[in-house]
Amino acid sequence: MRVLLTGGTGYVGQAVQRALIHHGHDVTVLARHSHGLLPGVQFEKGDIRHVDLGALLADINVVVHLVGIIEEHPATGVTFDVMHYQVTKRLVDAMTQHGLGRLIHMSALGTRASARSHYHQSKWKAEEFVRHSNIESVILRPSLLFGGGAPFFMMVRNQCRLPVVPVPADGETLLQPVARADVAELIARLVTTEQYWGQTWEVGGTKRFTMNELYRHVAATQGRRHVPLLHVPLGILFPMARLGENLPGFPITVDQLMMLNEPNITDDTRWHQVVEEVTPLDRDF
Ligand SMILES: NC(=O)c1ccc[n+]([C@@H]2O[C@H](COP(=O)([O-])OP(=O)(O)OC[C@H]3O[C@@H](n4cnc5c(N)ncnc54)[C@H](OP(=O)(O)O)[C@@H]3O)[C@@H](O)[C@H]2O)c1
Repeated sequence: MRVLLTGGTGYVGQAVQRALIHHGHDVTVLARHSHGLLPGVQFEKGDIRHVDLGALLADINVVVHLVGIIEEHPATGVTFDVMHYQVTKRLVDAMTQHGLGRLIHMSALGTRASARSHYHQSKWKAEEFVRHSNIESVILRPSLLFGGGAPFFMMVRNQCRLPVVPVPADGETLLQPVARADVAELIARLVTTEQYWGQTWEVGGTKRFTMNELYRHVAATQGRRHVPLLHVPLGILFPMARLGENLPGFPITVDQLMMLNEPNITDDTRWHQVVEEVTPLDRDF
């Protein structure tokens, strides 16, 4: 199949490139910068907000849409609404115009109509547009991803080097991390399956961890068996994040804090119909 992969140079995208190539697909990546391209992958340099998508869709069979952001930069027009909803609408409209009907759309676990974070609200708006369009789609909502230097786990690893490790609230929020390689494999296999179009799947890993357990797990892999955790109340963290989010390099935004304080788990195992062997969380973060 000829696959257009938006956001194919990012953390998820590089693994998806690898899986698509492995399954013998022809891959064209759309991104603004060309780093992280695998041999044999065609590159289309462009900003998905402005590029002529119609021209890119010629000869394409399936679109895998990964472009997304975790932090807004309103001064440069990079908002959740633009980067999740408006860009997806632009893509779906272009696909509809070109009579191209198949889209694998990347959303995120926690996306729902009543979501609290702006990230999840914009993902919901994008999902709804995809679901009510005329194109066939599979929408994937993965939990937090791990493997190959996942940004979240790199942050936790760095924090675990501190003498005392700060953890938001009581650290009992449940997460269900899933391997980036498994999600990439799922996407590559879905490209050629026939029966799953029209579905929205939540994608979680084999095991649920509280934040405390995750921090302890990561610390243990660094040789710290008894890491002292400091539970920082949300009443302190939210004002800090509010003040800090306009400062370059501040580690967390209010929106991210909101997401880290709601369970990110799922009972949905439908994706195991396509990927039977699920990678457990071990030392490869
Ligand atoms: N990482 C996770 O744990 C996780 C969990 C659940 C869901 N997701 C979702 O998975 C998707 C990919 O996430 P990720 O972690 O791989 O993000 P990422 O590493 O930040 O990658 C984002 C990709 O989008 C491209 N991009 C950004 N702005 C663009 C623009 N204006 N025009 C064209 N391309 C643009 C980037 O390339 P350039 O900057 O070169 O343009 C890059 O290839 C997102 O939709 C995210 O919400 C991620």
